[in-house]
Amino acid sequence: MKRILITGSNGLLGQKTVELLSRTSYPLMLVSIESHSVFDKEIFPYRELDLTKRQNVRKIIDEFEPEVIVHTAAVTDVDLCEKERGLAWQVNVSAVENISYAAKLVGAKIIHLSTDYVFDGSNGPYSEIDRPNPISYYGRTKLASENVLLTSNVSSAILRTMVLYGTGIAVKPNFALWLYNNLSQKTPIKVVDDQFGNPTLVDDLALAILKIIELNKSGIYHVAGKDLVSRYEFALTLADVFKFNKKLITPVKSTTFKQPAPRPLKSGFITLKAETDLSLKMSGMERGITIFKNQLELLNSKNV
Ligand SMILES: NC(=O)c1ccc[n+]([C@@H]2O[C@H](COP(=O)([O-])OP(=O)(O)OC[C@H]3O[C@@H](n4cnc5c(N)ncnc54)[C@H](OP(=O)(O)O)[C@@H]3O)[C@@H](O)[C@H]2O)c1
Repeated sequence: MKRILITGSNGLLGQKTVELLSRTSYPLMLVSIESHSVFDKEIFPYRELDLTKRQNVRKIIDEFEPEVIVHTAAVTDVDLCEKERGLAWQVNVSAVENISYAAKLVGAKIIHLSTDYVFDGSNGPYSEIDRPNPISYYGRTKLASENVLLTSNVSSAILRTMVLYGTGIAVKPNFALWLYNNLSQKTPIKVVDDQFGNPTLVDDLALAILKIIELNKSGIYHVAGKDLVSRYEFALTLADVFKFNKKLITPVKSTTFKQPAPRPLKSGFITLKAETDLSLKMSGMERGITIFKNQLELLNSKNV
């Protein structure tokens, strides 16, 4: 029975991965940087762990002896990475070195998460064999983290994904949550119509991780939602599904916002490899947003 350690278990993908893997019989160990887990500690063993602390990483991995490490933790705020480069490198690259060093000693496989920001967005959609060329510091750190694994002699699978959306306990606002928070309050918003990608329901990505574990796959996989759309199109579809007023959404160009980190504009993923190798069916926008809506309603009803 594979013992699985999940980093970033309080994050968006971390939570979904824990939820999904808890339906299997794999023994789990959760780690995240916060002092408390969002899950019941009695049911899911949890340790506070700053992954930039090499000795602590080694100690926990030595003790638990996982066969698989699902590494979801990262600094995911792209603009913060642009400004706080030392922090971005420490968490997104050095931590991966720490994990791979400890993983090698116990023979664990690493399932790592990366991003479409490794590409420049000049001619997406991209397949796994396209040449990365990051234009932001976040993208550079994530590409460097891939290279850490690819040169480490540790067995690994790298799942590149993009525009993750979903719900969870106290998760940071992702694009869909930001839209929901504003449109449900009838707040007018500006959304870019010149930035293209495949919005990805986080539940689908967690399923891809489970398939990687079960089928024991390695290498790079592009895992993203079925529809390649602009952010504006996604916002309109979300408004449709939630029956929000679409007139609240104004399309604008990316140059409207003075963001510290440049974004890949014409991005998108070709996901044929993941669909074929992992028998995955990725949700399109309408289905994904409907699932998101149902989960949000369930979460809100529990909070009442
Ligand atoms: N979100 C997206 O749209 C997207 C797109 C492409 C790829 N990805 C990749 O997918 C993965 C999961 O993303 P996500 O959206 O689930 O991220 P998330 O919600 O931001 O979760 C990441 C978690 O890592 C934690 N963390 C930060 N620094 C840490 C440290 N030093 N030690 C231990 N934990 C630390 C964060 O804690 P704090 O919240 O306290 O910082 C957070 O709980 C990441 O590798 C990301 O790069 C995400």
